[in-house]
Amino acid sequence: MSAIRWDDGMCLGIERIDEQHKKLTGLINELYVAFTAGRDRDILSRLIREISDYCLYHFSDEERLMAEAGYPDTEHHTAQHRTFVHKTVDFLVDAADGKEDLSLEVLDFLTDWWIGHIQGTDVRLGEYLKTQGLS
Ligand SMILES: [Fe+2]
Ligand SMILES: [Fe+2]
Repeated sequence: MSAIRWDDGMCLGIERIDEQHKKLTGLINELYVAFTAGRDRDILSRLIREISDYCLYHFSDEERLMAEAGYPDTEHHTAQHRTFVHKTVDFLVDAADGKEDLSLEVLDFLTDWWIGHIQGTDVRLGEYLKTQGLS
């Protein structure tokens, strides 16, 4: 795995969401670089907390947009966010607290999920929002 290269195929065309996706992608890349460079636990923990806080903020913003727009796939999309929070974000928070060890496997999973979710589930949401005249 390497750091994520942002490409325009990851853009939904919904500016607010695209900015959030870019910001979180940048933070995930920073964590990847810091981890592979063997940086101190304090630095990794700070980045992990930033990622988990921003991730929760981003998910709730997307979920609010879906609710406001009456998006038909809201339940399924929200369930994907919840599963990711329980499986991965909770693990990351434990890693930041020193209760779990961060690994390349976890970073790979985080990266793959993040890219896959944007390119599939989030892109479908973006298409719907655009049909509703939102951008
Ligand atoms: Fe998203
Ligand atoms: Fe999403």
